[in-house]
Amino acid sequence: MIRTHTCGQLTIKDIGKEVKLAGWVSKIRDHGNILFIDLRDRYGITQIVIDDSDEIQNIGVKPESVISIEGTVVQRPDSTINSKLLTGEIEVKLEKINILNDSHQPLPFEIEDAGSVNENVRLKYRYLDLRRNEIKENIIFRSKFIQSIREFLGKENFLEIETPMLTKSTPEGARDFLVPSRLESGKFYALPQSPQLFKQILMISGFDKYFQVARCFRDEDLRADRQPEFTQIDMEMSFVEQNDIINISEAVVKYAIEKTLDINIETPFPKIKYSEAMEKYGTDKPDISFGFILQNITDYLKKSGLDFIDKIIEKNGIIKAIKIEDGDKISLKDIDNINQFIKEKGGNGIGWIRFKDNDYQSPIKKFLKQDIIENIKTNLNIKSGALILFLGGNPEWVNEILGFIRIQISDKLKIKNPDNKFYFLWIVDFPLFEFSKEENKIVSRHHPFTSPEHESFKNHDNPLNITAQAYDLVLNGTEIGGGSIRIHKKSMQEKIFEILGIKKEDYQEKFGFLLDALSFGAPPHGGIAFGLDRLIMLLKKQDSIREIIAFPKTQKGTCLLSGAPDYVESKQLKDLKIKIDLPEK
Ligand code: AMO
Repeated sequence: MIRTHTCGQLTIKDIGKEVKLAGWVSKIRDHGNILFIDLRDRYGITQIVIDDSDEIQNIGVKPESVISIEGTVVQRPDSTINSKLLTGEIEVKLEKINILNDSHQPLPFEIEDAGSVNENVRLKYRYLDLRRNEIKENIIFRSKFIQSIREFLGKENFLEIETPMLTKSTPEGARDFLVPSRLESGKFYALPQSPQLFKQILMISGFDKYFQVARCFRDEDLRADRQPEFTQIDMEMSFVEQNDIINISEAVVKYAIEKTLDINIETPFPKIKYSEAMEKYGTDKPDISFGFILQNITDYLKKSGLDFIDKIIEKNGIIKAIKIEDGDKISLKDIDNINQFIKEKGGNGIGWIRFKDNDYQSPIKKFLKQDIIENIKTNLNIKSGALILFLGGNPEWVNEILGFIRIQISDKLKIKNPDNKFYFLWIVDFPLFEFSKEENKIVSRHHPFTSPEHESFKNHDNPLNITAQAYDLVLNGTEIGGGSIRIHKKSMQEKIFEILGIKKEDYQEKFGFLLDALSFGAPPHGGIAFGLDRLIMLLKKQDSIREIIAFPKTQKGTCLLSGAPDYVESKQLKDLKIKIDLPEK
C-alpha cells in the first residue's frame, strides 16, 4: 500500500498513528537541523518534519517531485499550529521517504503564484496549473455540481441519454465544426452545436423526460464566456407547457446550488418580457443588481426647438436617458470616453445635463427652455448632484448603446452587485424571428424548431411581430440558459421554414428526418439547456470560463497543452481524399 491516508485527512485524533502518505512536494523549509516538507495532494496539505540532520543531507527532494513517506503523526508545538489547514494541528515525523518521481527544475512558474502568471504559460503547463488550490477547487466544484444535478434529475425520473457526436448540422446560429468521412468520401459529419434535434426525437420515441451533460461544438468568435467546445445541461420533456419547464429549471438550479454552496436560493426567479428588458436595460441579458434604468424622455423634449432633437423625433426616433444620482463621480473625461464610444458606433455623441442646487450645466444649456428642464426634473425625480446622460436615434440603436453605457458606468462606479448575491432573471416572450442585416433576411432568434405563441402567429401581419414560446435564464447579466416549447406539428414546422425563406427541397434535405419523425405521433414537448461552464464560472465568481474548464482553448481556439489544431499526415488526407489549398506564404 503506497498510502494509508490522504494529505487532507489526518487530525489530532490520529496522533500516535503510523501512517503512509504520498503526494507532491509543495514547499520545503530548511531550518538547519530541522526540515519541513508540505506534502500536497488533491485533498490538502500535511506537514512532514525531518529532524535527523543526516537524513536531511541525503534526501535532496525538489519542489513538485512526487514522493511517498512513512512516519508517525505527532502534535505540532502550539506556536506552529496552522488554523487555516484541516491538518494544521498535526505533523508527520518522517521515518522513511521514497522519491517516486523527480520534477524537472526550474519550474515554469511557482504553483501557488500561477494566478498572476501569463495565461498562455499556464495553459501550456496546465497539469501544473491544475495543482493550484483555486483552480483545483473550481474543478472539484464543477464535478460535485454535475453530480448534484444528476441526483436531482434522477429522482425526478429523468433519463440520461447520450446523443451522437458525429452527426448532421444542428443549427444554433454558429458555424459547424466538420469531420470528414473516410468511408463516404467527400461527405462530412458536423459536430453537434447542441443535441436539439435528437432530444426532440427522443420525445417522439416516448422518453418523456430526458437530460444529458452534453458536449456542444460551435465555431464562433471566442470571448471570456465562450469556448468552441462547452457543456450544456440539456433537458427535454413531453406533455409540458412553458411554466412546467421554468418550474423544473428553477428547482434543479436551486437544488444543485444549495447542495454545493452553503447558501439559500429563493425561487421563483423574477420574469420580465423581452420587450421590457430591451426598454429598461437595453439588453436581453440585464444585470438587475443595480438601477440606471433607461428612461424615455422623448415627450419632454418635444417642441424643444432644438433642431437635432426635432429631426430625431420626426424620424420616429426616441431620446432616452440614464440618471446617475452621484453625478460628480462621472467626470468630463468619462463623458469624452463615452462620446468616443458612441462615435465608433455610428452616432454623434451623448447629451448631458448636470444638476447642481437649482441650476444646471449642459453643453446645450442655451438651447434648453426652462419648462423642458422642469419637466425632466419632475418626471425623473432629479435631485441636486445628479447627472443625466441622454441619447437619441432609432429605438433599437438607442437601447443597445445606452445598455452598453449603463454597464460601462456601473463598472466605473463599482456599483454592480454590492451584496455579492446571485440575481437570476427569466426573459420571456422573445420575438420568434429577427432581421439579420448581414444576411439581409429574416432569421430565427433562437432556432427554427421554436414554437410560436399561437395567438401572435394567427394574427400577425409581419413575421417580425410573432412572439416565441421561448425563455432565457440570466444570472448577474450573463445568459446561462435558454429553451423553448417546440413545434410538434409537421405542417407548422414547414410553415416556419417557409417564412425563413428555406426552399422545400433544402429543408427536406437538411431536416427531412425531423419532419418525418414529426409526422409519426410527436407529443407536445419543450426543454431548456443550461450553459454549465458559464453557470460554474459565475457561481465560483471567476472572470472567464477558462478558469473552470480543465483543458480550455485559447481565444484563438487552440489547445496550448496538446498543440491542437495541428497538421495531419499526408496519408490521412489521402485516405480522406482531401487536398489542402492554402495560399503561399
Ligand atoms: P443556446 O444556444 O441558448 O440553446 O445554448 C444554451 C446555453 O449554452 C451556453 N452557451 C455557451 N457556453 C459556452 N460557450 C459557448 N460557445 C456557448 N454557446 C452557448 C449559454 C446558453 O444559454 N438547443 C438550445 C437549447 C434548447 O432550446 O433547449 C440551445 O443550445 O449559457
